[in-house]
Amino acid sequence: MIALNKPLAPDLTKLTVYLAQVNESGWYTNFGPLHQQLTERLEAYLGVQNLLLVSNGTLAIQVACKALNINSAITTPFSFVATTSSLLWQGIDTAFSDINMDSYNLCPIALDEALQQNNNYDAVVATHVYGNPCDVNGIADVANKHNKKIIYDAAHAFGINVGEQSVLNFGDASTLSFHATKVFHTVEGGAIVFKHKTDFDKAKQLINFGIQTDGVLGEPGINAKLNEYQCAVGLTLLDDIESVIKHRTVLFNTYTDELKGVVELPKWHPQASLNGAYMPIYIACEKKQKDLMQALAKNNIECRRYFTPSLDLAYSQQKSFGCANSQKIAGGVICLPLHNFMSVDDVLVVTYLIKETL
Ligand SMILES: Cc1ncc(COP(=O)(O)O)c(C=O)c1O
Repeated sequence: MIALNKPLAPDLTKLTVYLAQVNESGWYTNFGPLHQQLTERLEAYLGVQNLLLVSNGTLAIQVACKALNINSAITTPFSFVATTSSLLWQGIDTAFSDINMDSYNLCPIALDEALQQNNNYDAVVATHVYGNPCDVNGIADVANKHNKKIIYDAAHAFGINVGEQSVLNFGDASTLSFHATKVFHTVEGGAIVFKHKTDFDKAKQLINFGIQTDGVLGEPGINAKLNEYQCAVGLTLLDDIESVIKHRTVLFNTYTDELKGVVELPKWHPQASLNGAYMPIYIACEKKQKDLMQALAKNNIECRRYFTPSLDLAYSQQKSFGCANSQKIAGGVICLPLHNFMSVDDVLVVTYLIKETL
């Protein structure tokens, strides 16, 4: 059996040392010492400032929107459901603009056309799908032209750089998910990286019920804090993150080399690093797609049609500026197994079967 994903398991000896510290101090949550340590280590590792740990990647999007006063947004239809559902749950008037057929990310040209048709949106919410950075300069040009804020859903983009710069340093805020299935995790968890310290300060208050540092109640908030036990998991896993990303990248590159010319693959941002978060392939022909999924299942190899459906179809009551590319990609994309416990030989088993079947 080759599983689609297998979460990292924290070393129990290391983890127990952290958990014993928590038990001794009695400080289990509310911005404790491990929260502080994990924040500092993540900021240093990722090369970012103003990083706020939160309880999951969904609340990360909601809190980022609230901190930036976003009431309406144009977003990508090609992402995990949480990118859109979090906006809708937040009462944000949400519209869809199409993706680029090469990268599967929000297309700046389509975005510009959409904003020329209707400029009544506060923000652009784009996902770095599968960890592949958006055209961050193209999106910044369009957003600046139309005076929009930018939030990046970077749930898949842990550790990714564009040139010398963390991808998280683009936009007004970037959100991360530390769900167990991610490259780095805290079982459940997430973070927001803000461009401006003032937004960070506001968000820190918002995730603690809206209580101000002087104890006075400010704007109503929510509880979205990451607790100390979960921070302990993060601190333990962070020790090995470089080798994890290195190994996942080797697996990703092996897949890419073996599958070139066999199936279509999304085009990676030319200046971006890799983290091996996912291995998406695209097969336009429905019959070939079904045949492949059957062959993989028969050989005990897991795969998933991820992401489908295109979110403009799932939320058809929302405004769409036309999402033909997203519908096409969502109709033919399949994610292959990729996780830290796989070997290069496992990848070769999967790619051999794909070549044999197609
Ligand atoms: C693109 C994207 N955004 C948001 C989320 C939500 O993150 P979480 O599960 O931590 O709430 C996910 C989770 O898988 C995701 O893939």
